[in-house]
Amino acid sequence: MPKMTFIERDGTRKEVDAPLGLSVLEIAHKHGVDIEGACEGSLACSTCHVVVEGDWFGRLNKPTEDEEDMLDLAFDLQETSRLGCQIIMTDKLDGLVVKLPSGTRNALG
Ligand code: FES
Repeated sequence: MPKMTFIERDGTRKEVDAPLGLSVLEIAHKHGVDIEGACEGSLACSTCHVVVEGDWFGRLNKPTEDEEDMLDLAFDLQETSRLGCQIIMTDKLDGLVVKLPSGTRNALG
């Protein structure tokens, strides 16, 4: 089974099993990683925002326009920001590393 790593807000790296076909958001929830995902993957929030590490960003499918629009609303937006619910685990993404942003808009509001 593929694995992926979350870098939590305090810098802790957490390597977890990443079943094929699950989104990064679902994988986070399965392992108790603190990503909110308020709309459960329907592209109606930006609380599943993650920052993709290293050269993984270029290996992901391009974001849709809807995802980009939502990302524009994300707190702490960075060059390699994506929505966790839109990254689906494949064999190619075995070893993926994403970092949790410093906060989300909802969490601050
Ligand atoms: S969970 Fe709302 S956009 Fe991803």
